[in-house]
Amino acid sequence: MFVNKIVSLSAVLVFLVTIKVSLSQLELGIETTTEEVSTTICSTCSCVDRVVNCANLNLTTIFELPDWDGLRDFKPTKVNLTQNPITAVTRISKLPIQELNLSNCEIQTLEDGSFLYLEDLSVLDLSGNKISTSAINRKVFGGLLGIDGPRDFVKLQYLSLANNDLHTLPQDIFLYMPGLLTLDLSGNPLAFIDQITMGAISDLKNLRELRLSGCELDSLPEGLLRRHRKLRRLDLSNNRFTTVPSVLREAPNLVYLNLDRTSLQTLGANTPLSNMTKLQELNLSRLSRLQNISAGALSGLTDLVILRLNYNPRLTNLHPDFLVWMNEDDEELWPDLKELYLNNNNLSVIDSGIIDGWNDLVTGDFSNNPFNCDCKNQWVVDVLVPLLASTPANSSVNNMVCKKPADVRGLSFAQLNNASRTLVCQEAETITELPISNMAIILGIMIGIVVTFPIVLILVLLWRKGFFSKCRNRKNYDSDDEHEHQNL
Ligand SMILES: *[C@@H]1O[C@H](CO)[C@@H](O)[C@H](O)[C@H]1NC(C)=O
Ligand SMILES: *[C@@H]1O[C@H](CO)[C@@H](O)[C@H](O)[C@H]1NC(C)=O
Ligand SMILES: *[C@@H]1O[C@H](CO)[C@@H](O)[C@H](O)[C@H]1NC(C)=O
Ligand SMILES: *[C@@H]1O[C@H](CO)[C@@H](O)[C@H](O)[C@H]1NC(C)=O
Ligand SMILES: *[C@@H]1O[C@H](CO)[C@@H](O)[C@H](O)[C@H]1NC(C)=O
Ligand SMILES: *[C@@H]1O[C@H](CO)[C@@H](O)[C@H](O)[C@H]1NC(C)=O
Ligand SMILES: *[C@@H]1O[C@H](CO)[C@@H](O)[C@H](O)[C@H]1NC(C)=O
Ligand SMILES: *[C@@H]1O[C@H](CO)[C@@H](O)[C@H](O)[C@H]1NC(C)=O
Ligand SMILES: *[C@@H]1O[C@H](CO)[C@@H](O)[C@H](O)[C@H]1NC(C)=O
Repeated sequence: MFVNKIVSLSAVLVFLVTIKVSLSQLELGIETTTEEVSTTICSTCSCVDRVVNCANLNLTTIFELPDWDGLRDFKPTKVNLTQNPITAVTRISKLPIQELNLSNCEIQTLEDGSFLYLEDLSVLDLSGNKISTSAINRKVFGGLLGIDGPRDFVKLQYLSLANNDLHTLPQDIFLYMPGLLTLDLSGNPLAFIDQITMGAISDLKNLRELRLSGCELDSLPEGLLRRHRKLRRLDLSNNRFTTVPSVLREAPNLVYLNLDRTSLQTLGANTPLSNMTKLQELNLSRLSRLQNISAGALSGLTDLVILRLNYNPRLTNLHPDFLVWMNEDDEELWPDLKELYLNNNNLSVIDSGIIDGWNDLVTGDFSNNPFNCDCKNQWVVDVLVPLLASTPANSSVNNMVCKKPADVRGLSFAQLNNASRTLVCQEAETITELPISNMAIILGIMIGIVVTFPIVLILVLLWRKGFFSKCRNRKNYDSDDEHEHQNL
């Protein structure tokens, strides 16, 4: 009886609580949405300030046309469907969507004209899906049919197809996006850029930024960038180039270039990198094979501001003049670097002649190199360390540590600076640096000297005392030494 009462009481309580919760949800719903939107989409996703956020909701299908129609009054400008296991993209209604994020889903197919009603579309992110070459064609990215064929997506500026399964690009895929500024094809197994792929990219005459990182490329075809007069940023990182691609000569207006994680072994003079007069930022990091950079390898980079030449574990020979070029009057010129990163290489010395205006450096990092702390690096102790101490990267001076010679091994340049150490020159160290076998020879010679010296001394003393003349004149012995000497 009593138990029954409790059960029924709690049932009533649960009921009341449920009503309260749903009421408060209703209130919340009224508070957060300004207009009366009661669509399937907004009951699943959050719809606030013209942004529809459906990120990571375990949606398996994209919505149907009637669902999208329900958003007409909400006038969404951003729709975020990222991280849902959606496999197929179907057509979306006419809505003023500017940004559509369909990244990191499991998209394999796209209906023809999926986006054709989205005339305001400016950003389309399809990265991180399973889109293969056969799944896309120019009809997928076609606009509304006009008098003479599909209309252009005039507003589309950003398209990412990164991290998909594209081996080549279908013909004319970008035909209807003449205004595209950024194209990201990174992380696709292109391996090789064929004529059709090159033709597709060539259609994008207004391109400002092209990303081809991690596309398994070992070369780029001549002509690829010939029509891209406006290209400013190029990401070629994480590919298999063993030399600087000569196609870069077609892109003299580049401002940003990324060649990180490529297979470059050496950078000599007269590569397409020299004379890139507009380049401001150059990344040459994590080049696991790079050993040598010769004089003038990065010459003529008049506008260079940021140079990242770090994490190259084999980079041993960095010519002091690698950034230097000559003008008509045979004067040496350097770029006005603001940031220089040479950390985590295999350099034993930082030459003071690498750049001209060390005082203009805003930040830099030279740490984690096997420094040989001889007099060649004295300026680092006296000039560079105090200079770096006032930069945002000041803690890096504690990781600029001497590897050689033995008496300063393990000391940081900051410590050497604090102690006002004077570093000795290489010649003085060669003896302490000599290997064991040479030490043995020296030891032998020294023992020889130690042993022979007394013998020679005794012999000389004996001679002075006339012992030998005594021996020589033993037969006609003359007791008066001085007399004999006078005779001589
Ligand atoms: C996502 O939905 C599927 C069924 O549609 C279900 O099996 C799975 O557990 C759900 N995953 C999460 C994280 O909710
Ligand atoms: C979409 O949502 C993801 C995850 O919440 C977020 O990182 C991303 O910035 C959003 N993108 C847009 C365009 O709103
Ligand atoms: C789309 O969402 C992802 C998160 O999954 C985010 O990293 C990405 O920046 C978003 N794309 C755009 C264009 O905002
Ligand atoms: C170079 O690398 C840095 C850090 O790794 C990154 O922030 C920057 O965007 C890269 N620059 C270019 C031009 O890709
Ligand atoms: C780098 O220079 C050293 C010595 O000058 C040379 O032995 C080596 O072969 C060079 N490495 C490459 C990849 O050119
Ligand atoms: C760079 O310019 C100099 C002088 O203008 C020229 O001699 C040299 O050949 C150019 N190098 C390249 C790689 O174009
Ligand atoms: C680093 O340079 C030293 C000579 O200074 C050389 O013996 C060593 O092999 C180099 N290390 C690598 C990983 O190239
Ligand atoms: C390093 O710089 C920060 C500010 O950027 C400053 O607070 C700190 O004292 C500096 N450290 C040294 C050792 O100069
Ligand atoms: C510099 O040396 C003095 C002693 O000579 C010591 O007290 C101080 O902690 C040192 N500073 C640094 C940054 O090592």
